[in-house]
Amino acid sequence: MMSQFPVKKRRPCQKEAPPPLNPEDPVRFPDVVLCLVEKRMGASRRTFLTTLARRRGFCVEGADSERVTHVVSEGNSGDEVVEWMKRYRNCWAEAPGSCPALLDLAWFTESISAGHPVEIEPRHCLGVTVKAEKPEDRCQVAAYACQRRTPLVHHNQALVGALETLAEEAHFCGSEGRRLAFSRAASVLKSLPWAVRRIQELSCVPCIGEHSKKIIQEVLEDGTSSEVERVRLSERYQIMKLFIKIFGVGVQTASQWYQEGLRTLSDLETHHAQLRKAQQAGLLHYEDLNIPVELSEAEAIGQVVRKAVEQLLPGASVTLTGGFRRGKQSGHDVDFLITHPEEGQEVGLLSKVISWLDSQGFLLYHSSQRNTFQAMEDELLSSHGSAATMDLFERCFSIFRLDHLHCSIPRGAGTQEPGSMVRDCGASLAWKAVWVDFVVTPYSQFAFALLGWTGSKNFERDLRRFSKLEKKMKLSSHALYHMEQKLYLSAASEEEIFQHLGLEYIPPKERNA
Ligand code: UTP
Ligand code: MG
Repeated sequence: MMSQFPVKKRRPCQKEAPPPLNPEDPVRFPDVVLCLVEKRMGASRRTFLTTLARRRGFCVEGADSERVTHVVSEGNSGDEVVEWMKRYRNCWAEAPGSCPALLDLAWFTESISAGHPVEIEPRHCLGVTVKAEKPEDRCQVAAYACQRRTPLVHHNQALVGALETLAEEAHFCGSEGRRLAFSRAASVLKSLPWAVRRIQELSCVPCIGEHSKKIIQEVLEDGTSSEVERVRLSERYQIMKLFIKIFGVGVQTASQWYQEGLRTLSDLETHHAQLRKAQQAGLLHYEDLNIPVELSEAEAIGQVVRKAVEQLLPGASVTLTGGFRRGKQSGHDVDFLITHPEEGQEVGLLSKVISWLDSQGFLLYHSSQRNTFQAMEDELLSSHGSAATMDLFERCFSIFRLDHLHCSIPRGAGTQEPGSMVRDCGASLAWKAVWVDFVVTPYSQFAFALLGWTGSKNFERDLRRFSKLEKKMKLSSHALYHMEQKLYLSAASEEEIFQHLGLEYIPPKERNA
């Protein structure tokens, strides 16, 4: 019998909408939008955590918001969260690759105490059982990274982490072939719109060699790989990582120091006289230079640089590129491209900008190199030229002193103050040393420079490889050259370069290969 009272339908969106916004809360990370899952967390704890996060500058929205990028849950499995989210959004059914990251509360608490969204690590991710797809869909994964869309947050963190460790280790040993094999396998996994659960799912995915498959299988079965663990624990790997993180130190130098028996940063300090100027500065600011640079900090530096550039050459532009342009919230450095629409006007600008920044006390170290594109052009065009992958722009590597008065984040907000082992005495903690690269490009090369400096490195490597092998064209950060027709192809935008190459345009946020 029908009830005589109207049945009250539960309206999940209303019940689980987050508390109303407080207009006084700052928005510090507009590209990161959280959603807190009420199931098991409970309504009052969710309200408390939402308010806390918003006060720290995080955006928190309801599960029905299309803007949500990070779903945070406590005590639920990945599958439970997916079921819960499906009541609000159906992207899991339609396009799992475009769905937000599913994270454990640990990611949230670490981000709150760090004062910024921390990098997502495998241990933060909730696993999801993916229903079998049509096998032919899986065979459609393209072989070159520049033909694939690779989001910043992907579905295979643990597998990628393991393979990237082996790629790094191979790099430390100078085994470039092995490094490329592991990097390519990691890169293709980042582009998959599903979380791999069984090795058979990779049967028609390209770029995954036998060694990588073995590692993947181990991680899938045991949650870890003995080979990777051995590398991570090895003394050489740990010390190479310590040394390579010094500004101005490459793999060769780090390896030489290791062979000479050097093991700690203090050992290097005793060899101070043998260090190059850049390395001395790198050692002095080691700690700061290894704290990730936040997007807000990069933007604050951008404001200072823009002011200097506009003052010295009206009409010139400054573009923030590198990982930040791909949507990263933090990075290891800040990359700027400078140009002027009237070609030739940019010549001589960089030295003036650097002198001005230096005179204002913004630079702790800087080293410039002039534009050598003309001088190297022949080698650039020869098919074996080592200059082909090098950058020949006028550029400056610097260590920038970011005064936190220029930045919306007070140093140490919500986090522990770092120790002061290598910080020069008397320095105030109100500033931070940041690695900043400046690159000046003639306007006609700007689109190529922008494409080249946006990265990621895997994406760039495959763009060049694709151009050469599939199109008989030579792509660099300066130009695109048709080797058979012997002509340069001009481009005013990245889109035009993709068109010349016959590639579908991939926006920066999907170039995180
Ligand atoms: P980065 O090393 O700064 O990497 O080079 P990233 O992607 O911004 O990463 P984080 O966030 O700083 O850690 C940015 C891009 O610039 C190009 C590379 O293609 C790289 O992807 N690049 C870098 C060059 O073309 N030449 C260089 O000398 C350095
Ligand atoms: Mg960078």
